[in-house]
Amino acid sequence: LGARTVPDCSIAIDNGIIQDIGPKKRIAKDYKFDDEIDARDRIVIPGLVDTHMHSYQVATKGQTCDSELLKWLRSYIFPWEGHLSRKRARACAELSYIEMAKSGTTCFSDFTSTRFTDEAFSVAEKIGLRANIGRTMMDYNAPKDMLEDTVSDIEDSRALIMRWHGRCNGRLRFMVTPRFDVTCSDELLVEAFALAKEYNLVFQTHAQENLGEVAFERKRFGVPAIKHLNKLGLLGSNVLLAHCVWLDKKDFTLLAKNNVKVAHCPGSNMYLASGIAPVPEMLKNKISVGLGSDVGAYGNYSMFEQMRLAVLLQKVHTLRPHAMDHHTVFSMATSGGAACVGLSKEIGEIRVGRKADLTLLDKRSLAFSPLHDVIAQVVYSAGKVCVSDVIVDGKVIVRDRQLTTINEEKTIRRASKALVS
Ligand code: GUN
Ligand code: FE
Repeated sequence: LGARTVPDCSIAIDNGIIQDIGPKKRIAKDYKFDDEIDARDRIVIPGLVDTHMHSYQVATKGQTCDSELLKWLRSYIFPWEGHLSRKRARACAELSYIEMAKSGTTCFSDFTSTRFTDEAFSVAEKIGLRANIGRTMMDYNAPKDMLEDTVSDIEDSRALIMRWHGRCNGRLRFMVTPRFDVTCSDELLVEAFALAKEYNLVFQTHAQENLGEVAFERKRFGVPAIKHLNKLGLLGSNVLLAHCVWLDKKDFTLLAKNNVKVAHCPGSNMYLASGIAPVPEMLKNKISVGLGSDVGAYGNYSMFEQMRLAVLLQKVHTLRPHAMDHHTVFSMATSGGAACVGLSKEIGEIRVGRKADLTLLDKRSLAFSPLHDVIAQVVYSAGKVCVSDVIVDGKVIVRDRQLTTINEEKTIRRASKALVS
């Protein structure tokens, strides 16, 4: 781990791919550009990856501040998701994706909910983000208006794969997302995993987030989620587990042996008082870890904030200032995130041949002067206010802090109205 910083260079992009990186003079001589961004006062970083969030929960902000996971789900999240309408779902996706784009997140992995997943895809298509979108599955132990049957969970997901997976030059991808084993039958988990295998998709679920959840799993299965998934044969390199806060030695071995990825959500783990995930131990065991905002279990989508929370939480937890360094946490938000969503070779680094997913930070906006250590300053000082331009798949989707793909003002106004009516 350890990102390298290169001063004063230009990046040539064509066909959505980084073609060349080099001294400004040479690049200017070798290529003819039909568009240029003057990045003299900019820091260019790989687009940030949010490996775990729930766009359709965004409208619950401000109402859910004081609960632990299971009560939070029962009291706020299930009632809200159970009463979603198509219009509200779309509004949630719009507000979420606008905020992510303007915060320098270029790629996300969204659980949506049990219905209206088409809206999320349609909004992602329009705004231009790299999207991994799932339809939440739950066929057991769920409130009446969210309970589904196993067959429709699978068949509805299959229909979404047909409609959306691979669209927009591969920018939109479907992800198989059973909610968690607390609200899923074994049959559903097994069939969902088979569906993911059939289409070569990421299989994402929540695991061992909170002690109440773990106690429920012990009672129902005799073991917590990871060992239960292992018994069912559902651990593999396409598996992304959100949280993994409460792990024992055997869990580390199972995750590492099966090349399972972890979405670490430090903000959510604090917000819901879930606990402190043993991230340094995961990394020591060579487990791939990415970062997630987990909104609605957190107040905003800024991955700068999640980087900072991740690194500070380990310092204060261990009383060791080197518990997890800033290079590690920066890699988690970029290349680690790419690994989580199965895009290790495509995104996560600024490198010739990679997809051009880039975030530009304005050095003048905050704390970048004097520049001593770019990565340290990005991790400890930067915020979404620094994000000036965002490029996804070679397309500039945010230019000079404004979305280029939609009318931002109008969309926000309409979406906000839909959520209060
Ligand atoms: N576990 C099951 N569902 C959820 C959810 O929506 N959010 C979080 N944070 N954990 C979950
Ligand atoms: Fe979550």
